[in-house]
Amino acid sequence: MVIIDGKKISALIKEEIKKEVEDRKAKGLQPPHLAAVLVGTDGASQTYVNSKVLACEKVGFTSTLVKEKDSISEAQLIQIIDQLNNDSSVDGYIVQLPLPKHIDEQKILMAVDPNKDVDGFHPFNFGKMALEMPTFIPATPFGIMELLKRYDIEVASKHCVVIGRSHIVGRPISILISQKKKYANATVTLAHSRTINLDHLTRSADIIITALGRPEFLKADMVKEGSVVIDVGITRVSDSNAKRGYVLKGDVDFEGVSKKAKAITPVPGGVGPMTIAMLLKNTLLASERKVVRLDAVS
Ligand code: GUN
Repeated sequence: MVIIDGKKISALIKEEIKKEVEDRKAKGLQPPHLAAVLVGTDGASQTYVNSKVLACEKVGFTSTLVKEKDSISEAQLIQIIDQLNNDSSVDGYIVQLPLPKHIDEQKILMAVDPNKDVDGFHPFNFGKMALEMPTFIPATPFGIMELLKRYDIEVASKHCVVIGRSHIVGRPISILISQKKKYANATVTLAHSRTINLDHLTRSADIIITALGRPEFLKADMVKEGSVVIDVGITRVSDSNAKRGYVLKGDVDFEGVSKKAKAITPVPGGVGPMTIAMLLKNTLLASERKVVRLDAVS
């Protein structure tokens, strides 16, 4: 059984990015600049955004963190987005999700300049992704595809069951992994809360991708021997023995499932660190595109 080490692969990718940034700086070019907008005080969102900002520093990017109160109005948030759209020093930015209930998430995502949409959540970029056109691929599914590639996992003609249809993970990975390209070409079943006989589907799967946010949902008796299991879930579960008062749990019962799987991602240290690495990759791409655009003008 192979443990797919996202921490190791993400470190390699970050090293590659760092080298590119150094090369660019040596040529007198500005380093890429990522901005992140965080609304509210949700602990998990704060942790994720802080990790993203810290990762920027480590690879030599410039970063800006825009922190706003839960009470911010939709109009005020759109104003911040307009400022980021118009700030030529910002190559790309993200608005950390989820947003407070009184803010229409779709309206916010639509306001982001598609050229700076390094999350790949704008319908323009999501559509381009679905049509196999070059664009920003949402970081988590991008990270999963990169893990499959770097571990040389056979995907073509395999049956892949994706559990969860979120716009951030389940839906885009179901599209990417079925596309006509290397480390894809899978036959995909996208399962969700209204799917019946899920265990019947997962037992026939060669590859299972769990992205539903239910700790230890996927048990050993739901998978077949020799399957590849990618766990996207990361939920804080209260634990009075833990230093921080909680432990992080994936959607997969790692203990049981790892005994049957051929390859499996751990939580933490699997998909999570890859999300950050691929966000950096998208930001690098955004800043290169800007260079291309400026070249085209001059
Ligand atoms: N919330 C959970 N995952 C993500 C992500 O990849 N990007 C943003 N912006 N918010 C998220």
